[in-house]
Amino acid sequence: MRTIHVTASREYDVCVGPGLLRECGERIAAVCGTGAAAVVTDSTVAPLYADTACASLERAGFAVSRFVFPAGEASKTLKTYDDILRFLAENRLTRADLLVALGGGVTGDMAGFAAATYLRGIRFVQLPTTLLAAVDSSVGGKTAVDLPAGKNMAGAFHQPSLVLCDTDTFSTLPGDVFRDGCAEIVKTGVLAGEELFSLLERGALADRPEEIVARCVEYKRSVVAEDEFDTGKRRLLNLGHTAGHAAELCSGYGVSHGKAVAMGLAAMARTCAARGLCPAETAERILALLEKAGLPTALPYGARELAAAAMSDKKREGDRLPLVVIQGIGRCRVETIPGEEFETWLREGGAL
Ligand SMILES: NC(=O)c1ccc[n+]([C@@H]2O[C@H](COP(=O)([O-])OP(=O)(O)OC[C@H]3O[C@@H](n4cnc5c(N)ncnc54)[C@H](O)[C@@H]3O)[C@@H](O)[C@H]2O)c1
Ligand SMILES: [Zn+2]
Repeated sequence: MRTIHVTASREYDVCVGPGLLRECGERIAAVCGTGAAAVVTDSTVAPLYADTACASLERAGFAVSRFVFPAGEASKTLKTYDDILRFLAENRLTRADLLVALGGGVTGDMAGFAAATYLRGIRFVQLPTTLLAAVDSSVGGKTAVDLPAGKNMAGAFHQPSLVLCDTDTFSTLPGDVFRDGCAEIVKTGVLAGEELFSLLERGALADRPEEIVARCVEYKRSVVAEDEFDTGKRRLLNLGHTAGHAAELCSGYGVSHGKAVAMGLAAMARTCAARGLCPAETAERILALLEKAGLPTALPYGARELAAAAMSDKKREGDRLPLVVIQGIGRCRVETIPGEEFETWLREGGAL
């Protein structure tokens, strides 16, 4: 097992390794003490892992209750959030008690938001079960639900008290969900530098998932520690996401987040190489790694349509767009461009 210590407004450990669900109760009790624990999970994860997690919590002395919602992004709404709050109230959870998010990014984001707001904030623990949740959403304290007007539009910063990532849970992930996580891992490789990137090129995710997840968390930790509230360095994590979010929108959310990020990352790599911002070889390596992971690298939408979608992004700054520019592996920087120039960037990146 590997442990990464995160320093933000709350300090906490992220533990990564096999078999952690079986022993989550004692690990959580050691950090939070015992009391009531409400486990929030979805309808796919519940039959796979809820019994193991709940039994461990009960053995450690927690009074456990379970809230299960229908799996999928479509559940990440104010309605489900409201149902969770009511469930917590019905079970009389107090500020001394705990919420446990067991599942992927949808569960973690929504349960985290409930924990951030119920009684003005109770503690919560993340038990991520997808690759994406392990390397990205469970660390850093961003919690949210979607609004009809857009994704993650209502939320809060609320750091967990502990993150336990049981790498055994990845074995049941559908291939497509696994690949979505790979896209964020490739992105992290480009940001973090040669060491992680070349490990990925050598196929280390399959052989040493624990090490790869831990390295990704270490990178995210370093960014969050400097910029918890996303006003500076944390914007680097948006690499590939401006074009990616636009692709998600243009597909009517028919393309998953991970695949859209892969398309966006590939487009940025091509544009940066075309503009001489990074060596052609850097772009080739990024494209090859995405392809090896079974991810799409073509951006099959019109540049004009994508640019218009990007201007509705919540990360827009007036009529300017912050873009993460690739200068090399481990050498990325944020550059803010006039919104109208983005169409050209996209065209150079291969958009139609
Ligand atoms: N908070 C953040 O910083 C942050 C960062 C990135 C993404 N996100 C959010 O994360 C969400 C996407 O996360 P996700 O891809 O994990 O989605 P998800 O939680 O919907 O999980 C994807 C699917 O996999 C299933 N699943 C989960 N674990 C499983 C397992 N071990 N075995 C089999 N099936 C399993 C789920 O039931 C679901 O159907 C989005 O809502 C996104 O906005 C948040
Ligand atoms: Zn992402």
